[in-house]
Amino acid sequence: MAKSKWTEFTQNAVGTEQLKSAGSEFKSGWKAPSNIAIVKYWGKKDGQIPQNPSLSFSLNGCYTQTQLEVKYSPKGFSLTINPEGKEFAPRIEQFLRNVEPLFPFLANVEAKVTTVNSFPHSVGIASSASGFASLALCLCHIEEQIKGNLGFGSPFLRKASYVARLGSGSASRSVFGGWQEWGYLPELPNSTNEYALSLSPIVDPKFFEMRDAILVVSSSPKVLSSTQGHVLMANHPFADARYAEARINLNAILKALRKGDLKRFFDIAESEAMTLHGLIMSSKNQPILLKPQSLQIIELIKAFRTEKGINIGFTIDAGPNIHLLYTSDVAPIVEAFVNEQLKPLCENQKVIFDSCGKGPELV
Ligand code: DP6
Repeated sequence: MAKSKWTEFTQNAVGTEQLKSAGSEFKSGWKAPSNIAIVKYWGKKDGQIPQNPSLSFSLNGCYTQTQLEVKYSPKGFSLTINPEGKEFAPRIEQFLRNVEPLFPFLANVEAKVTTVNSFPHSVGIASSASGFASLALCLCHIEEQIKGNLGFGSPFLRKASYVARLGSGSASRSVFGGWQEWGYLPELPNSTNEYALSLSPIVDPKFFEMRDAILVVSSSPKVLSSTQGHVLMANHPFADARYAEARINLNAILKALRKGDLKRFFDIAESEAMTLHGLIMSSKNQPILLKPQSLQIIELIKAFRTEKGINIGFTIDAGPNIHLLYTSDVAPIVEAFVNEQLKPLCENQKVIFDSCGKGPELV
C-alpha cells in the first residue's frame, strides 16, 4: 500500500474522544451497485494492489443496501450482523478490523451491520463489490457526521473507493455510477492503484445506454472464488503477457468509449472475457468454469449478430454465466432473441435484465 495515500486518508482520522463528544451514536445507510468488468482485474499484489488496471460499468438493478450503526462502548469493538449478511460475517469483521487505522473510533464501538442484496447471491453477480462499496460509504459518512461535515464531494468518494478496495478490489469501482477505471495506467491522468476514478465525463453518451442481460446458466456456488483466482496468477506462465495486454486493451477501450465506437468496444470486451477463462483453464489443476450452455449461448450471440448486422457483444466473470451487452436502441430485437433462443439454455429460464446505473444512493 503506497504510504503517501495511507497518510492522506488517515489525516484528521476520528478517534474515540471525538466520537464521544459528538454524540456517541451514529448511523448511515447506502445503496451501492454491483459492477461488471469489461477489462478484467485478475491478479493482485499485497495490500489489494491490482496487477493491472481494470474498467467497468455500474449496474442499476443489482445492488446491496447496507446500514451501519455505531455506538460508543468502553468494552472495545463488537459486531452484530443481520441473518441475511451472516454469510459474509467473517469477511466483514476482518475488514472492519483492518480499516481501524483509518477510522480509529471503531476501536470502541458496538457496531451493527444490516445488509441486503437486491439479487440472489447465488446467481454469480459480484456481491462483494456492492457489499463492500456500500459499507465503505457508510463508514466514510459516519466519519463525516462525527466531524460535522455535510455533502459528498470528490474527496469523500475517493476515500470511500480507497476503503472499499481494502474489502474487495472490484468494490473500489462500485462507489461510482456510469463508467469507472481502477489501477495505474500511465496514459490516463490521475489513475492510481489506490482507488477508482469515474470515467463518466469522457465517455460518449451512447455507452450510458448500455444494457446487460445476465444469462444465468448455473446458480450453483462458485467453484473458484475471485480471491482464489487472483492467487493463481502469482505463478502463471502467461502472467506478464496478460498484464501487458490488459494495459493495451484498456487504452484501446478508452478510445472506443470516447469516440462512441461500439464495434471496437465489443471486440475488446469479448477478448477480455475469453482471456480470463483462458487464464483460468491454463492455471494448474483448475476447473473449467464455463458450461456447455455458456458456449452454446456465445455461439448463438455471434450468429445473431452476423445475421442482424448489429453491435452487440458479451462479457463473462469468473463463472459460467454470460452477460449479453447491447444498447437501448436495439433492445426490442435483442430481448426478443433472448426470450426465444437464450432463455431455454438458462437454469430455470433465469435471465436478469439490467442496465448501466447512476451509482450509489444515500438511503
Ligand atoms: C473476474 O474484486 O472479487 O470479477 O479483491 O479478492 O475481492 P478480491 O477480488 P474481486 O475480483 C474480481 C474479479 C473479476 C474481474 C473484475 O471485477 O475486474
